[in-house]
Amino acid sequence: MSDTAWWQHGTIYQVYPRSFQDSDGDGVGDLKGIRQRLDHLCWLGVDALWISPIYPSPMADFGYDITDYHGVDPIFGRMEDFDHLLADAHGRGLKVILDFVPNHTSDHHPWFMESRSSRHNAKRDWYIWRDPALDGGPPNNWLANFGGSAWEYDPATGQYYYHAFLKEQPDLNWRNPAVREAMYDALRFWLDRGVDGFRVDVLWHLIKDDQFRDNPPNPAWLPGHAGIDRLLQRYSCDRPEIHSVVAEMRAVLDAYSDRVLIGEIYLPIERLVAYYGRDMAGAHLPFNFQLIFAAWNARDIARIVDDYEAALPQGGWPNWVLGNHDQKRIATRVGAAQARVAAMLLLTLRGTPTLYYGDELGLENVPIAPEQVQDPWEKNEPGLGLGRDPARTPMPWDESENAGFTLGKPWLPLNPDHATRNVAALAADPNSILTLCRQLIALRRAYPALHRGRYLPLRTEDDIFAFRRSCGQQRDLLVALNFGQTVKRLALPPDAAGADLLLSTGLDRIRESTGEVLQLRPREGLVLQLMPR
Ligand code: NOJ
Ligand code: MG
Repeated sequence: MSDTAWWQHGTIYQVYPRSFQDSDGDGVGDLKGIRQRLDHLCWLGVDALWISPIYPSPMADFGYDITDYHGVDPIFGRMEDFDHLLADAHGRGLKVILDFVPNHTSDHHPWFMESRSSRHNAKRDWYIWRDPALDGGPPNNWLANFGGSAWEYDPATGQYYYHAFLKEQPDLNWRNPAVREAMYDALRFWLDRGVDGFRVDVLWHLIKDDQFRDNPPNPAWLPGHAGIDRLLQRYSCDRPEIHSVVAEMRAVLDAYSDRVLIGEIYLPIERLVAYYGRDMAGAHLPFNFQLIFAAWNARDIARIVDDYEAALPQGGWPNWVLGNHDQKRIATRVGAAQARVAAMLLLTLRGTPTLYYGDELGLENVPIAPEQVQDPWEKNEPGLGLGRDPARTPMPWDESENAGFTLGKPWLPLNPDHATRNVAALAADPNSILTLCRQLIALRRAYPALHRGRYLPLRTEDDIFAFRRSCGQQRDLLVALNFGQTVKRLALPPDAAGADLLLSTGLDRIRESTGEVLQLRPREGLVLQLMPR
């Protein structure tokens, strides 16, 4: 593993801190709670945890609205708790990645309070203030991601400020060098404490059009879709000047050894890969979300993998994501049986996998009654299925009260099946999806072909997607996934005939050897080791 970095050969696990483990009975997960549960991550076999924001915040957007980039919100604990968590994690060989939210602050951040205090304040230009249009309305047609206009009028100073998300999340002006320096200082603060990297929130948003041109309408928008999708975000994000900012951020990390810069970027592939930067001096891992939006069938998935492989620049390391705190759960998107195929896909593809907490249990979206809604997006645009609470519910650990998550009242309801779908029960079940995930992670770690080998497409026919992973002189591995509901036979190419089965998503086929034809049960995935060449 010596010629790859930890963030290349390792598996990343996302922890949504409010929902992982509560240690103090307030119903909200916290840092001490995460620390208590590091055993699970070690047992599962992941290499790094990424923790969604823990900074002081009024929680209008659950921590993505920050008032102090150098602190810890009391709901999550104290700085000392963070240091203990970091030390414990490092002691167990786990890396810790923090969320970094540079695009916007909270409207309660002292910078914004100063900025809005007068047009002449020294921090006025730290945010994006514009005069009203001639008719007194907003300066342009840009929309907020959580509904409505992206411009908020401030009567005290007679201008509008821009917010890509909630009005409680004013966007910083990244064209201002003082803003950049302040944010790089925040990065250094955590790097000096020992964090191993950052997942950077909405990285492609930081720079807006220098002329603030109107966004064009989106012809594909229909009533019932999110308001933000009425327009194409042509001028409000992904502007050419962004890449020099990403390179600056990367340079901050490069002054330390072995740290990772991950970018949250929702863009089509050809634009996404630009975020690796010129000469790979941008993000190490521009998050690749294609599996989240893919139609779940062999042909589409195979095409996505092949196109992505082809689009990667020289030296760009791939990565794959199945779910996160903003998206529907994978088990809900594709169903329980296909969730096992999805886990095998994620953990056998070339490139760093990021696993969302609870997906290793096959956790589904949890129904949230109207009076239980927490997510501001659902509150702003109710009933369209946009709310993110269903995928953010507490981790079910065992059969005790509240599934061992809290001694208080959980901030969101637990999954209704928590008595059976919990870590303890599934860990004891040799056929569970949790056991499968653990074995897949172990396999990925054990076989260089999986964690750093080449990807070679093999065959896509009917419901089957099959590919090879190959590393030096070692025996090739073959992965075959059945996306369909019926038994399938896959004729193997001559040099692949005769292989040893290493793992089935059913966890019930072992020590089999195949001939020239591979038989796959409905919704079954297999990993095989080919004969020596
Ligand atoms: C992306 C984050 O993942 C999401 O949860 C948040 O609401 C927005 N960025 C705004 O920070
Ligand atoms: Mg708590």
